[in-house]
This record gives sequence, structure tokens and C-alpha cells, in this order.
Amino acid sequence: MLVLGIETTCDETAAAIVRRHEDGRGEIVANIILSQSAEHAAYGGVVPEIAARAHVEVLDLTIAEAMVKAGTSFEALDGVAAAAGPGLIGGIIVGLTMAKAIALVVEKPLVAVNHLEAHALTARLTDAVAFPYCLFLVSGGHTQIVAVLDVGRYVRLGTTLDDAIGEAFDKTAKLLGLGYPGGPEVEREAARGEATRFALPRPMLGRDEPDFSLSGLKTALRLEAEKIAPLSDQDVADLCAAFQRAVVDVVADRVLTGLRAFRRRFGAPTALVVAGGVAVNQAIRRALETVAGMADTSLVAPPAELCTDNGAMIAWAGAERIFRGMTDTLAASPRARWPLEETLAAEKAPA
Ligand code: KG4
Ligand code: ZN
Repeated sequence: MLVLGIETTCDETAAAIVRRHEDGRGEIVANIILSQSAEHAAYGGVVPEIAARAHVEVLDLTIAEAMVKAGTSFEALDGVAAAAGPGLIGGIIVGLTMAKAIALVVEKPLVAVNHLEAHALTARLTDAVAFPYCLFLVSGGHTQIVAVLDVGRYVRLGTTLDDAIGEAFDKTAKLLGLGYPGGPEVEREAARGEATRFALPRPMLGRDEPDFSLSGLKTALRLEAEKIAPLSDQDVADLCAAFQRAVVDVVADRVLTGLRAFRRRFGAPTALVVAGGVAVNQAIRRALETVAGMADTSLVAPPAELCTDNGAMIAWAGAERIFRGMTDTLAASPRARWPLEETLAAEKAPA
């Protein structure tokens, strides 16, 4: 089964062709990503209007490039998938409308994919992970611990009460005068910093519910930075190291709590799976490996380029759904807000 996937929910314009083999194995045939970060960098974050216009300008070429790379034609596809949300509505409209147009012209099934579901299912494409598994979804917009029971069956165990972890990395970078996206910059600075120089809080540590809160940490960091301003290069590195260490401690505690909650409700998970842009962070990955071991399971972390937003994960989620007969009609709507738990309800809605 050959599926085209289109991703336009944030600041990457991406298109990919993925094959699902009969035994359920996945194979990436082409995976093209055009990042717009340079266009947003001057603003220190994604500007929705700029993003939507950039998607319009390059999406057709991105798809064409993926088709050429895959050496295939639209007629050879078994379906067209696009991320229909959640995310920035302007970009979503561009990607979903393009997918509908292609599906209509070549008479192929359409799948309106939930972007979070695509992150959630990526580990099945890369590592053929079996259900049920515990997902730690950690990106610029989301920080969630989810029980992934089947395609379309997700139970959220924990979430952030305020900022997402990636967002906290981005805000820290902005505060310290580093570039955007902030995660990689903060991680690089942290590597040459002294984490113990500043005593930052570890919000929510030890709580029963596997939830997160990042805003107190962000404020504490700002106060420390203000106290010692103007900042030297070493100050910046030390603040980054202290921030990252605090996040790592919180992640370890919260995810371990999430894994225990998973086991109580659903039995042993097949794996702890990590997804989303923050999963690229090496310190966080190491902490998750330790935590997985403590909970008698193992960590599955897809390669970095499949953790951040991409078209392959959308195509794969489309393939998983088409295989189960879970396709959508051309009436599928773009959705700025679309909780993961509602993906099955969307599929069951009358056509
Ligand atoms: O999944 P993603 O590409 O986009 C969505 O938010 O959906 O994630 C982007 C986020 C940004 O907040 C970025 O700063 C963060 O992932 N990120 C990192 C690292 N690389 C990217 N955070 C911490 N450490 C990193 N190395
Ligand atoms: Zn994402």
C-alpha cells in the first residue's frame, strides 16, 4: 500500500510517500521537508500568517519532489493523507485542501490525519512497536503522556497545565538571547554550562497524577537571569544547564509516574515511546532510557528527523487508517484544536 502524506500544521512544509507492506512493516520511500524557520527567526517564534503563505508557495513543489524521488505517480497511490489538525488553521487549510484536490482528481481515499496521532504512531513505522504502548509526546505545542491502545484508541494519562516543554525551551532561548528554535540552542549551551550553579524549582515532582507544569520554572529562570544581568557567555551556558537539568528531573519523575499509571490501568506496556521535537534532546533521551528500565520496559525513540514534524508520519498514520477502513470524506474539516482522544469519534461521525 502506497500513501502520500502532507504536513502543514506549523512551520514545516512536508510531503512524503510511505509504503505499508502486507506484514504491517513500514517503509519510507520519499520524505521531503522544507523548514520555514529562517522566515520566522526574526520574530522569535512562528508567525501564523507568514506560515500559511509560505505553505501555499511551496507545497506543490514539495509534493512534486516527493513524487519524483519515489518514482511514482498519483495513479499508483492507495490514498492521500493530510494533517487536518491540531495546529495553525491557515496552514492546515492549505495542506488539507491540496490533499482533497488530489484525492478527488485521482479518485483515491482521503485520510484527514490528527497530527498528534501521527506522532503517536511513528514508532510503528520505524520500529514496528506493537500495541499497547506508553507514549511521551513532547513538542513545541504538546507535553502529554498517552496510553496508545490501538489506532484511534488513545487515553491521555497526563498533560501540561501550562507551557509545553518545547515552548519552555524556546522561551528560555529567547530570554537568554539565543536563536529560534530554542531547543537545540539551549541544549548546545547546556553542554558547556554548570548545572548546579543555580537552584531552580522542579514543579510537580512527586505528584500522584503524571501532569507537568513549566511556567514556575520559566519564571524562576528569568529571576535568576535578572539578578546577574548583564549576562556573560558563561552565565548563559550555566543558566541553560540548570534549566535543562531541572527539565530532565521533572521528565524522569513525571514519566515514571505515567508508566506506573499505565501499568495499573492497562497492564505492561510493550515499550515507552517518545515522539515530538523535544525527543531529539540527548539529556532527555538518556533520562527516559533510565526511567524505562526502572519500569521494566524499554525506550523506543525514532530518529531525530522523524521526531520533529515530517510528512512520513502523516503518510504512515494514513496507511494505518486506510488498512483498517478508517477513511474520510471530502467534507473533512480542518481543526485548530483536536484532542487525540477524539480521533475515533471523528472517524465514526456520519459521512
Ligand atoms: O514536534 P516539533 O517539530 O513541532 C511541534 O511543536 O509540533 O517540535 C518543535 C519543538 C520546539 O519547541 C523546539 O525547540 C523543540 O521541539 N526542540 C528541542 C530540541 N530540538 C527541538 N527541545 C529541546 N532540545 C532539543 N535538542
Ligand atoms: Zn509536531
